[in-house]
Amino acid sequence: MNVHFSSNTDQWSTPQDFFDKLNERFNFTLDPCADKENAKCKKFFTKEDDGLKQSWDNEIVFCNPPYGRVIKEWVKKAYYAKGGIVVMLMPARTDTKYFHDFIYKNERDNEIEFIKGRLKFGDSKNSAPFPSMIVVFRN
Ligand SMILES: C[S@@+](CC[C@H](N)C(=O)[O-])C[C@H]1O[C@@H](n2cnc3c(N)ncnc32)[C@H](O)[C@@H]1O
Repeated sequence: MNVHFSSNTDQWSTPQDFFDKLNERFNFTLDPCADKENAKCKKFFTKEDDGLKQSWDNEIVFCNPPYGRVIKEWVKKAYYAKGGIVVMLMPARTDTKYFHDFIYKNERDNEIEFIKGRLKFGDSKNSAPFPSMIVVFRN
């Protein structure tokens, strides 16, 4: 298995054409989880900055978070950000507690778009082994 497909990697970088289409709709101002190579916005936070500790308030955020157990912390951060929009690209794991508590059928009524087919992350020729979804938190 390619390292980019192992479950412990956090480098599932968004396909550029997929991001570009979303960016036409939202005009993102912040990528809070990135490195210099895969940042999708001029303003971005890296592991060293720790995007979870920075303010996302009043930003139009594009967030494709690290996919390990820590993903629920990114979902919570998106849920509690104030005054802007957070669009998350993430695995469509509809059986998780965080999906039910912070995404699906809560008082916010977040928009969920399930993606048809599987994305090819990074520069991989292979499709991801999991389905993806977009969640829009309008805060
Ligand atoms: C799934 S990749 C998404 C990369 C890129 N922003 C994109 O959409 O293509 C997640 C990124 O989050 C970074 N990352 C991991 N922990 C982080 C943290 N605490 N704060 C900011 N970035 C972090 C990783 O280095 C990785 O580049």
